[in-house]
Amino acid sequence: MADQALSLLSQDLRRPGERTLWIADENIPSDLCAPVSDVEVVGNRYDLIQALRAQGWPAEFSDFDLRARNDASLDRIVYRISKEKPVVHHLINEAARLLKPGGELILIGDKSEGIKTYSRKAQQCLGGHRDERKEGSIWRISLSRGQNNPEWLDDQDYRQLRPMTLDDGAPYLTKPGLYGWNKVDRGSAFLIEQLPAMTGHSLPLQSRVLDLGCGFGYLALNACATDAQLTCTDNNAAALQACRANLEQRGFNASVIASNAGTGLQPGFDIILCNPPFHAGFGIEGDLTDRFLAQAQRLLAPGGIACFVVNLHIPLERKASGRFAQIRCHADNGHFKLIQLSQAL
Ligand SMILES: C[S@@+](CC[C@H](N)C(=O)[O-])C[C@H]1O[C@@H](n2cnc3c(N)ncnc32)[C@H](O)[C@@H]1O
Repeated sequence: MADQALSLLSQDLRRPGERTLWIADENIPSDLCAPVSDVEVVGNRYDLIQALRAQGWPAEFSDFDLRARNDASLDRIVYRISKEKPVVHHLINEAARLLKPGGELILIGDKSEGIKTYSRKAQQCLGGHRDERKEGSIWRISLSRGQNNPEWLDDQDYRQLRPMTLDDGAPYLTKPGLYGWNKVDRGSAFLIEQLPAMTGHSLPLQSRVLDLGCGFGYLALNACATDAQLTCTDNNAAALQACRANLEQRGFNASVIASNAGTGLQPGFDIILCNPPFHAGFGIEGDLTDRFLAQAQRLLAPGGIACFVVNLHIPLERKASGRFAQIRCHADNGHFKLIQLSQAL
């Protein structure tokens, strides 16, 4: 995230004395500032929420489900806008409900992220005043909550999972707010296609399988038998919610666990399936792939195989060296490569 956005955000958080909610989306570094009295955090990223709790912040991990909070109970909400429109509209609507009359919503974001449009829409929804300020390319919008009933924005029913038939012709429960929510990842489809040849086992897999960074569960659902000893994990609250619902609907008896790249899970998996992220929010986080590889190394059972799919330009083989004795590129299709890792060191 741009430095200006971070500095605006931390200034707005360091104003104690008023009941404030900080809505932390995926773009926030975990060491932004020390806890401030009267400021609570809600976020959909498990690693961030864990890090904030460790620093002493009162922090809640959820897919921005604020229903338990009372109407007109907050003085201020600070929100660095998210990537997806339904999420932003959902949170502006919730701000209109949660702020006291005269309370303040602060939106921070870049022009290219649509902040000016959100500013206008948020004013319509909240019905109060608007003050816009710019630092570098970053806008800070202050909106006050008026006295009138809110004019709700269309959030496409953000909270609800929805059934969608995706490009593989199969139905999934999914929702905006999670990675690639309305399509099958082409790399993941390639991995599923090649998985029998890669692992030497026909599908569905019966063994102890980990879907590392599971999203809505595409890899697990397409690779595993319903009675496999399956664990799915992700960092994103919406992904976990969707994955749980998909597995349940198709009769799987699996564990779905929130974790940062598998940290905290018990080792002993025969097969690890992973299409690791390389984007974190608006930026690119260099060490994410390393984090996934380190956990795959720790979690793999002796004799097990970790099957990764990555874009061709990701130097996964180099990053995995020193962690696995066997590193093999099983196939590439000109866009993605399938890397097989075994004999963890
Ligand atoms: C490329 S997507 C793959 C999703 C899914 N496996 C599929 O094939 O459609 C990467 C996934 O990693 C998740 N992710 C990102 N950072 C993570 C982290 N630190 N720990 C665990 N999962 C993470 C994202 O939420 C996303 O669901």
